[in-house]
Amino acid sequence: QVSPGSPGPRRPISVIAHRGASEDAPEHTLAAYRKAIEDGADGLECDVRLTADGHLVCVHDRRVNRTSNGRGAVSALELADLAALDFGSWKGWSDPHESPETETREHTSVLTLERLLRLVEEQAAAGRRVDLAIETKHPTRWAGQVEEELLRVLARHDPAIPVRVMSFSARSLHRVRAAAPWIPTVYLMQFLLPRHRDGRLPPGVGIAGPSIRILRNHPEYVAHAHSMGHQVHVWTVDDPVDVELCALLGVDAIITNRPRRVLSQLAQL
Ligand code: G3P
Ligand code: CA
Repeated sequence: QVSPGSPGPRRPISVIAHRGASEDAPEHTLAAYRKAIEDGADGLECDVRLTADGHLVCVHDRRVNRTSNGRGAVSALELADLAALDFGSWKGWSDPHESPETETREHTSVLTLERLLRLVEEQAAAGRRVDLAIETKHPTRWAGQVEEELLRVLARHDPAIPVRVMSFSARSLHRVRAAAPWIPTVYLMQFLLPRHRDGRLPPGVGIAGPSIRILRNHPEYVAHAHSMGHQVHVWTVDDPVDVELCALLGVDAIITNRPRRVLSQLAQL
């Protein structure tokens, strides 16, 4: 059985910007995503979490403490609380907060999934295809609410946007597939469990998402996953030695904090 995301003929490796071009701009900000697009990234990766009032925002950690000047769990804060925080100064960035144009806070504002989808739509309207790989973070705590809201948000946008959903939780991917089987799903793996060694994934999942550590220890994994009909999208690949390994093994996508450098290395291989 061929699932969405199965490899066809060999294509160049797709380069996906992890939390945007997060080496050059504060992660998960509009500025980081714009930079990734400018750098030539094929796709954008983002993590999504639900706010207390039910909005999906792009934040990696459970709490906002590391990446903003605020404190507390995303799930305990409302979107308006998050909008008042500064998500850029921890990285040395500032924006003119007094500006009436909220868009000028591109380096420091919290980013909603809605806004990120609009960015991708704007690119599509200008003739530039950009994939969006959305990771559901710790969705089991929310008993399906993250996936429900995600699908509601996606339904408000152009269905032609190339979106895929990623998760470490097979249950989360299952929920997405049950409601929207046309959306490709990526099963993220930090370690390679014995049951996945032969390239098998949870039922219905089309794409394997191993950590680079898995490929360093089990380079044969890529061939196994391909033999099962799965693409392989590897994270988070910043070291040139790892980029070379990925190219050698023929992975389908590299997820990286530094898309510009990875693209230029791949072009020279
Ligand atoms: O792209 C997958 C990767 O982002 C998973 O790890 O912790 O960076 O979300 P993390
Ligand atoms: Ca992620």
